[in-house]
Amino acid sequence: MSLRVLSVVVAAGVALTAASVSQVKSQGKPPLDFESFKSRVEPIFLEKPQGHVRCYTCHSENNSAFHLERLPDGANFWNDEQSRKNFQSVSGLVATGDPAGSRLLIHPLAPEAGGDLFHSGGRQFESKNDPDWKALAQWAGAEK
Ligand code: HEC
Repeated sequence: MSLRVLSVVVAAGVALTAASVSQVKSQGKPPLDFESFKSRVEPIFLEKPQGHVRCYTCHSENNSAFHLERLPDGANFWNDEQSRKNFQSVSGLVATGDPAGSRLLIHPLAPEAGGDLFHSGGRQFESKNDPDWKALAQWAGAEK
């Protein structure tokens, strides 16, 4: 194959790949938003609701798929770089094709409310009416 033909073939391949990528994107939901993750979602992980340990206490220590960065000494919030890592970890728990079925939403929810039977961290949300659960669901694209 001459170099010229080869480069045409390569270019066509690149164009095809680009086309299929943009097709997937346009079919899916809008991508998860980093700014609202920082302002609305991350604070929930640090909160300490009555009778619960906050998500951060366990999920910055353990190695489950939901992993939060350790806060720097003396800091009460993550810096931008850490938030990016949290964002990546948490985004992996969102099912973009079926946001309502996301692990992030189902796993910490009480079983009677439609959540998983067992979460080592217990029933973090008693129902889907919990404002924090709602904020997570909105961010994940499962609720308006
Ligand atoms: C007392 C410790 C503890 C607390 C508090 C806790 N978790 Fe967990 N969580 C765990 C452990 C351990 C696992 C992995 C084993 C399991 O599935 O139960 C887990 C698993 C998960 C998973 C499934 C992802 C995976 O790694 O497989 C999600 C999602 C999750 N937790 C969300 C939360 C959220 C959201 C909060 C706070 C609202 C929270 N957890 C609070 C201990 C905790």
